[in-house]
Amino acid sequence: MAFTDTQQVSPFDIPGQLLAGPGADWRWNNLGYWPGASCYASACQQLALLHADVLSLQSQQRLLELACGYGAGLELWQRAFGITDYHALELRQQCVDHLVNRQGVPAARVSQRSFALCKGTPPWQGWFDAVICVDAAYHAPSVADFADTLTQALAPGGAAAFSTLLKAHSAEPFWHQQLRRMAGIPDASLVTEADLRQTLAARGLEVMSVQYLEHAVFKGFSDWVSQRHDMLDWRQRTSLSWLKVLATARWCRYLSQRPLLRYGLVHAVRVEA
Ligand SMILES: C[S@@+](CC[C@H](N)C(=O)[O-])C[C@H]1O[C@@H](n2cnc3c(N)ncnc32)[C@H](O)[C@@H]1O
Repeated sequence: MAFTDTQQVSPFDIPGQLLAGPGADWRWNNLGYWPGASCYASACQQLALLHADVLSLQSQQRLLELACGYGAGLELWQRAFGITDYHALELRQQCVDHLVNRQGVPAARVSQRSFALCKGTPPWQGWFDAVICVDAAYHAPSVADFADTLTQALAPGGAAAFSTLLKAHSAEPFWHQQLRRMAGIPDASLVTEADLRQTLAARGLEVMSVQYLEHAVFKGFSDWVSQRHDMLDWRQRTSLSWLKVLATARWCRYLSQRPLLRYGLVHAVRVEA
């Protein structure tokens, strides 16, 4: 087991095994796409697969996965789509260590790095046909940083699929801003669809579609966490990492009832130079 539940919880650590349940793939860590899903791991996989679907992912494509976590997605792209030429990027060192030491991913294929690639010149500049980022783009310092990363990584004509939170038109209450910031979602990464399109377009990326998935995401995650909560013992229920999951689930429940934020799956293409 790679995840150790301690009282030192980084903003992005979640208790994968408690969330997924016994015997399930604990490496997934997203909000999931719930219609038809029987458990957390399958909901997470469904959400990931939607990204591959919008890209029509093909075995010969060169793929970059941003914020790959513990690598359940990376394994999926290889197994289900025959991807062999890939690179992954993840902020948390323990995920990178797991990928290299436990999952056998060649060290050269995974980088411990933040989204903000544009701050340095990556060796893979303009190399990738496809970029996938599942449930993490909203952690970028800003939408502009995230867009720069996509433009830098993609070859002309290449495409990206990413899921992110988008602002609904209503104003955001102050308490909600505080909660969101605590969840590692900076102000500058949360924009409306119109602003997202504009920011991407300014960097040579055309948004082909935005699918809104909030009805299939927020409530399902919240229901799953309630179900798991009832199955845990008191020590697990009161661990800091589980309390964080609970807080996220309550927030998702709130969002499922009041449309403050939307959950968008974005397909964008780098226009030919
Ligand atoms: C909700 S998890 C999604 C993980 C994975 N994509 C999945 O579907 O299981 C968000 C991920 O974003 C990563 N992350 C957060 N901030 C980041 C940053 N600035 N650069 C790169 N990755 C980041 C976290 O470490 C975490 O693995």
